[in-house]
Amino acid sequence: MEQIAIDVLNAYHERLKAERAQPRESRLAGVSRDNLMLAVGPDTGQVLNSLAGSLPQPNILELGTSFGYSTLWLADGARRSGGKVTTIEQLEHKSAYAKEQLRLAGLDSYVEFIVGDALEVIDSLPQMFDLVLVDLWKDLYVPCLERFYPKLKSGAIVVADNIIRPGGENARAYQNAIRSKAGMQSVLLPVGTGIEISRLEQ
Ligand SMILES: C[S@@+](CC[C@H](N)C(=O)[O-])C[C@H]1O[C@@H](n2cnc3c(N)ncnc32)[C@H](O)[C@@H]1O
Repeated sequence: MEQIAIDVLNAYHERLKAERAQPRESRLAGVSRDNLMLAVGPDTGQVLNSLAGSLPQPNILELGTSFGYSTLWLADGARRSGGKVTTIEQLEHKSAYAKEQLRLAGLDSYVEFIVGDALEVIDSLPQMFDLVLVDLWKDLYVPCLERFYPKLKSGAIVVADNIIRPGGENARAYQNAIRSKAGMQSVLLPVGTGIEISRLEQ
């Protein structure tokens, strides 16, 4: 990763550290969740960076840009592999902030930022995808899966965050749904808050 991107990443980590220092209950009660990063964190970031950087010229779809933390990891991988990230966020202010951070990191040319409801936007996307990050509100994981599954290229990889923490009914429903899709192999990895990594056979 280039130094200007590392500098932006370090600033994100400072903000994330302050956010995570709050107990989860007061974090979600005291501040609107619309102002929280709720980011995947550095371990999952590294996994995303490796995948985005090693697939050949991948089309990458990110569901849940937030303030752009995971977008940066994906975009840096895309820079190395000749890929492109399409990221969807419903909140305008978060998407605008993310875009500015990616510009500061020298990575904005690898990203298309879309503001809108992922459930509607996915249907309108013309491209097929090699890599998908699922990290929006958890009750949307299964409905989103139903929309992006037909748009996966053979060999595509899907990463879904927060499967162990907070986990719960929605996470289990997503695991069951993706594991029952034709041609899909899937495993839960104890990285970060728990990521389900799934791969569509070639
Ligand atoms: C857990 S955060 C994403 C964190 C981000 N991936 C990161 O690691 O920095 C979830 C985000 O999904 C967004 N979101 C929730 N529902 C959405 C929807 N229907 N369409 C688009 N974005 C949505 C929220 O506004 C929030 O910013």
